[in-house]
Amino acid sequence: MENSLFSKPRDLFLDIVNPKDYVQIDSVSHMYQSLKNSVQKPLKMILLYGRPGTGKSMLLHKLHHDLSKYQKVFMVSTPIVDEDDFLRVLAHNIFDHTPREAMTLNRFLEIASALSLNPIPIVLLDEAQLYSAALMEKIRLISDARVIKFVITLHKTDQEDVIAKEHFQTRIWESIELQNATSEELKIYVQKKLLKANCFDVANMFNDKNMKLITSLTNGNYRDTNKLLFTLFSLYCWYEENNPALIQYNAIKPKWIEMAAIHSGLIDA
Ligand SMILES: Nc1ncnc2c1ncn2[C@@H]1O[C@H](COP(=O)(O)OP(=O)(O)O)[C@@H](O)[C@H]1O
Ligand SMILES: [Mg+2]
Repeated sequence: MENSLFSKPRDLFLDIVNPKDYVQIDSVSHMYQSLKNSVQKPLKMILLYGRPGTGKSMLLHKLHHDLSKYQKVFMVSTPIVDEDDFLRVLAHNIFDHTPREAMTLNRFLEIASALSLNPIPIVLLDEAQLYSAALMEKIRLISDARVIKFVITLHKTDQEDVIAKEHFQTRIWESIELQNATSEELKIYVQKKLLKANCFDVANMFNDKNMKLITSLTNGNYRDTNKLLFTLFSLYCWYEENNPALIQYNAIKPKWIEMAAIHSGLIDA
């Protein structure tokens, strides 16, 4: 089964964020370019904003990967919610400083000013909605002192608009909002992913109608699309092993896409 025609495409759609897997989609590349431009400006904070699954972590990882060649950049993928730990981890990774004393904000700023690194180091904070208001205030003070530039991502939710929270609202920063993909963009996403992995035959199975159906089932959300396609190719793997006569190799039946949407919990049966 692991050598089936469909196991490789299936695994391409695991929900993993690796900058090596980055796919160029016009609107996303445009966002990425403005993100890279913003980082070069004397801005203190830059915000990447959007619903879960719109590609925020992917852009942040790519930025980390690309900037690392030229300057000091540190990524915090999982929030460090303890304030003392947060400053210690930053001091250690950015200033090469491992303090025995407690790491207060003042101490941190002292160390930073003494080193006065140029260019200013960049810190990337994913999932910033999980940081407390108190810690966000410290982050603001650190960026105001211009010793570190922060790029943060925030989830947009239906329940509350975190961006409206005071500590996110009143700051000087550039904000970039990521959106779900259109059917055209999702087609490019799926095709490029498959072609990059040399899955030509499988890529040819998708037609525009398939992509429209997938877009309507996932709202063009990248994470949901990954889920749907992972499940779809899992179905193909299963049939290939158990009932290959049922597989049509030159097209994808809408029924199968709907079946995958049900199995992956995107729609109710
Ligand atoms: N431009 C892209 N190229 C390749 N994969 C992408 C791209 N954008 C999003 N993805 C994939 O879609 C999924 C969701 O993206 P992610 O960055 O985790 O979203 P978010 O952080 O906004 O919730 C991930 O598995 C990611 O690898
Ligand atoms: Mg994320």
